[in-house]
Amino acid sequence: MNRAHKFDVIVVGAGGAGLMAARYAAQHPGVSVAVISKLYPTRSHTGAAQGGVGAALGNVSEDHPEWHAFDTIKGGDYLTDQDVAERFAVEVIEAVYELEHMGLPFNRTPEGKIAQRKFGGHTREFGKSAVERACYAADRTGHMILQTLYQQSIKDRVNFFNEFHVLDMIMEGGACHGVVAYELATGDIHTFHAKATIIATGGNGRMFRVTSNAHALTGDLMSIAYRRGLPIEDPEFYQFHPTGLYKLGVLLTEGARGEGAILRNGDGERFMERYAPTIKDLAPRDMVSRAMYLEIREGRGAGPDKDYIHLDLTHIDAHVIETRLPDITEFSRIYLGVDPIKELVPIQPTAHYAMGGIPTTIDTQVISDGQNTIVPGLYAAGEVACASIHGANRLGTNSLGDLIVFGRRAGIEAAKFAASEGFTELPAGVQDRTRELIDGVRKGKRKERVSHLRRELQDTMQDYASVFRTEEFLSQQVEILRDLQERYECVGVEDEGHKFNTELLEAIELGFLLDNAEQLVHAALNRQESRGAHSREDFKERDDATWLKHTLVYKDGDGVRIDYKPVTLGKYEPKPRTY
Ligand code: FUM
Repeated sequence: MNRAHKFDVIVVGAGGAGLMAARYAAQHPGVSVAVISKLYPTRSHTGAAQGGVGAALGNVSEDHPEWHAFDTIKGGDYLTDQDVAERFAVEVIEAVYELEHMGLPFNRTPEGKIAQRKFGGHTREFGKSAVERACYAADRTGHMILQTLYQQSIKDRVNFFNEFHVLDMIMEGGACHGVVAYELATGDIHTFHAKATIIATGGNGRMFRVTSNAHALTGDLMSIAYRRGLPIEDPEFYQFHPTGLYKLGVLLTEGARGEGAILRNGDGERFMERYAPTIKDLAPRDMVSRAMYLEIREGRGAGPDKDYIHLDLTHIDAHVIETRLPDITEFSRIYLGVDPIKELVPIQPTAHYAMGGIPTTIDTQVISDGQNTIVPGLYAAGEVACASIHGANRLGTNSLGDLIVFGRRAGIEAAKFAASEGFTELPAGVQDRTRELIDGVRKGKRKERVSHLRRELQDTMQDYASVFRTEEFLSQQVEILRDLQERYECVGVEDEGHKFNTELLEAIELGFLLDNAEQLVHAALNRQESRGAHSREDFKERDDATWLKHTLVYKDGDGVRIDYKPVTLGKYEPKPRTY
């Protein structure tokens, strides 16, 4: 097989953002497009997104994009760039109708319109009460988006390189010229030369012990960009979704609460009434996850060890549960042996979503500093990116919206760029860094086992850098990460083969995860305030005077360097966040 490829546009990642980008790029006349994915596309993690995509269609009750933009900004604790939220709230409406026209099987209202339900933090009239904004296909909305977009991409003759693991970006003169990838089936290394590269590889939740994220979510490109000198924006803002299955982290959609489910503590109390008197169980995720841990900490958890909370669906019509929430009903039955129609479901917050990522402009161009210097030829969209729509805390359903809005934008912008540029000459030794990375692991000393280091990383990140944080624990975690990085130099693999060597790739992924953890922990230690999902017990208040700014974390030798970027404010002045 040819190991040197040339396309006008390449897209790394085949989830919702990647496929949307590929479709749009492919529609540009004369532009060749390839998608490179470490998974078979329909196995991408977008498939695990459940409850819906938020768009102010107003099909069930009155709604407006202004209300959606405001909720997104307030939900993000005012760290959201307001121009991005405003454009997003308008474009997501078009994008949802477009998915409908592609054939996505949304649930329907009795009149045949796209059905909508309530979701956390989405309100009418700037916070008065919860509004039905989430457009859903049962609790399989992400799955349906992925299937629909994949079919369309095949129709659009996009080229796919499946089970190709990208291990480096080709950077020269401050611009990007493609990527280098490892082919899982053969162990061959391939060069993908491109005029424009779109990164759409999703998140990094596998750095925590309890997570809703699939095994593949190891933050590869956030690490590769960082190693290549680019910053990561706002990595300290990491979202814990309130309703993960107890100890397993498997997601139970917030759509359940949208359909009327209630959170109860060990005393059976609907405790969210005390924390968010207006929208109660439908408060934003950062507030609900904190409230759950506070209940547990104060001895009001459920179960023999009082260490979980209950999700109560027992008062909801069984038909509604079976038809609108079929997957999560099965997950509870299969994994916990609990039937949500008759019993309370044990749940705990689960590591779910990175609000930060590779910084981009509103048009998805990657930037390299706080002055918005554009990296020519490089774009990013979806969870891996940070156009700063989610600020310090993302609202539920805005991830699927992000994928389709910014995926589309990335495809359009990258194709436009590629159509106006010629191919540059590739630098010499383009595969050298990838070969060194692979050889380093292959020839490693094998004194340390990847599975042991990964477990230590996940346990300590969960204990010291998750929902609540303090200087003491974060500093301890900085030291732990330093030790893990040193020990990582001594890992190795037993499988010396070249075909389907997943052991080798898992070892490389662990290195990526360690970088992601380093970014998060240093940024969290640095930010001396509480905002959104970043809750410091030693700095309990939001401090706009000092901290209303984005963090940029750069790799600096063996350490990190931190810089800042202003937040784009607009008509919504930062106010205390009550619900
Ligand atoms: O609860 C959910 O269905 C998750 C949705 C999201 O993260 O946006």
